[in-house]
This record gives sequence, C-alpha cells and structure tokens, in this order.
Amino acid sequence: MITGIFWVLILMRLDKFVCKSTELTKNEATHLIREGQVLVNGDVIVSEVTQVHENNQIILNGQLLKTRSFRYILMNKPENTICSNIDEVYPSLFNYLDIDRVSELHVAGRLDADTTGLVLMTDDGRWSFDIIRPLKQCKKVYRVGLSRSIKDGVVEKFRHGVQLQGESNLTLPAELEIINRSEVLLTLTEGKYHQVKRMFAAVGNRVVSLHREKIGNISLDVGLGEWRYLTMDEVRTIVR
Ligand code: URA
Repeated sequence: MITGIFWVLILMRLDKFVCKSTELTKNEATHLIREGQVLVNGDVIVSEVTQVHENNQIILNGQLLKTRSFRYILMNKPENTICSNIDEVYPSLFNYLDIDRVSELHVAGRLDADTTGLVLMTDDGRWSFDIIRPLKQCKKVYRVGLSRSIKDGVVEKFRHGVQLQGESNLTLPAELEIINRSEVLLTLTEGKYHQVKRMFAAVGNRVVSLHREKIGNISLDVGLGEWRYLTMDEVRTIVR
C-alpha cells in the first residue's frame, strides 16, 4: 500500500503575499513591485498579479518575507451590533476583538443588527467564500421565533423554494423543523439579503426573533459577546 503526505500549496497574487507578510497596504505593495524592489526566487518580478506560494523565496529590499497565518474566529453576536467594520447606528461587532489587525478581518455571512448568534470572522477570503457560496451547500441553521402560528404546508413550500420579492429565482430548498407553533429551526444553504425574514413574509408570517446556531459543522459554544479561535479541525470542516 502506498501512503503519502500531500501538501496543498495555496497560490496567491504577489501583491497579496507582500501585504500579508508586511504592514504595507495594497497600493504600497503594488508600487514597490512595479518599481522592481521584489525578487521571487532570485528574479525581479514587476507584475503584482504574478501567482506565488509560500514555498517561493520572496525578498523585499533584501529581506525574506514570510506570510502570517490566517485567523479564524467564532463569535456569539449580541443584538444591536453590526457586522461591518465601521460603527454606524449600532457598534461594530469587531469592537469585541481585543487583537491586532482587526481591520483585516471580515465576517463570513453577515447577520442583521437585530439577529444574534454564530458569526465566523477571518482574513482568509477563500475560506469565507466557501461558506457563503450557495454552490458549496454549506448549511446555516437559524432558530426563528414567529409572530403567528406556522401554517400547514410551509415545510413543503420551503423545501420546494419560495419566491421572494425582487428575486428572479426561487429560494434554494430549505429544511424547516417545527419546534412548536411559533418556534422553528430553518436550515439554509444560501444567504440572500434578509433571507429568513423575507421567506416567512412570503408565507404570511413575521420573524420576531432570529438566532444563528450553526454553520456547517461549527456550533455556537460561547456566551453572548464572547469569542474564540476555531480549531484547525473546525476550519477544515469547511470543505474546499
Ligand atoms: N436572514 C435574515 O433575515 N437576517 C439575518 O440576520 C440572517 C438571515
């Protein structure tokens, strides 16, 4: 039997590599690359779109660059916070993170200001894309409180897909588990704008509370406003 270890080399653009391994902005990195100050495996490379990987020897001004590793964070979002990096009407969720380079992080699948629960944050854009992209079928589970009793036939309607106002396609098949007449668990594999609220509006109901419990195999296990780093096993459960 042949066994082996397989290394996956992640390619990235040279400007991104320079940014990730220094404090430089994208514009500054691009400028230095175009000026011929960056060597890749001994050659001057002046195109910032050149694809490189961690095993390349990349030198800037005589200094060997090493990328910092990506960060993956789980947080329990409190009500009246927002998922963007800038405080608006409500404070940004990022204020809860007492770590360096918070501005490099983004949320993989935003929640509304009044929604609570599981939020994943990262600086790895490919990883978050796999969470958001419907093609990847990454399941998100929401606990939903409703203003009215759930009507017969909604489970089938959601499984089939419903027409949301302003959308050209039906929603993708969604699983609805009824906890009681006014509380349900809804599992989605896509994340249209206000999707849960709009799906229940489409069947004559109204969401009064919304809490995300799970993304893929990652479950919420910290208190409101608390966060922790994901384990590498958890990170890997989001399949590429
Ligand atoms: N669907 C919504 O309507 N709101 C959220 O915050 C998440 C999903």
